[in-house]
Amino acid sequence: MKVIKVKDNVEGGKVAFENFKEALANGAKVIGLATGSTPETFYADITSSDLDLSGLTSINLDEYVGLDGSSDQSYRYFMQEHLFDAKPLKETFVPNGKAADLDAYVKEYDKIIDEHPIDWQVLGLGQNGHIGFNEPGTPIDITTHVVDLTESTIKANSRNFENESDVPRQAISMGIGSIMKSKQLVVMAWGAEKADAVKGMIEGPVIVDLPASILQTRDNVTVIIDEAAASKLTK
Ligand code: GLP
Repeated sequence: MKVIKVKDNVEGGKVAFENFKEALANGAKVIGLATGSTPETFYADITSSDLDLSGLTSINLDEYVGLDGSSDQSYRYFMQEHLFDAKPLKETFVPNGKAADLDAYVKEYDKIIDEHPIDWQVLGLGQNGHIGFNEPGTPIDITTHVVDLTESTIKANSRNFENESDVPRQAISMGIGSIMKSKQLVVMAWGAEKADAVKGMIEGPVIVDLPASILQTRDNVTVIIDEAAASKLTK
């Protein structure tokens, strides 16, 4: 794990952007993408650049059950808005939150991931240490699955909805097992509310109760954190 401390999310987005460009220069063709406020500066750097993404395939981590691109709170909508509309890719996969048969659909999504091995994956970090929507306690070898969101995640994500009661209670998420297969990973975190999760991810024991701690077991992980998110690190 390589840890890079930056001043804020603007500087952090630029560091991620440089890492991404290097991965593309080294031949990355399939990129794993995340939503949330964390990667916004990174996506803004891509859209304002002259990078051509038309040869790439992307696979997103997660989506709320019950939402699809027609809803502005969906992760498909977020991706169109922050990246895909400005920088078209060859193919973009985001889980379909409206799939009629979720059990069959998660297997289909696994097949998509198997057929397009991820070269470079960007991750945000939940306040409780989740990655994608892999909540505390999730087995480390799990593949795509339907998740019951924890109260802490529902609360944290309610800022994007009118009322907390509007936040979907379930999501489809790529599993930790699939995320860990990515050849290279970049994790970003900004702000004091991520400081505990960042400490657990970097300095804590590798435990299922803090899903991001599993990233310690991998070499090719770059962590980009701002001063506030790094504030509880002791080493
Ligand atoms: C959400 C998403 C994650 C994201 C995380 C952090 O629940 N499922 O993929 O990384 O929470 O969100 P944010 O970046 O808005 O803090």
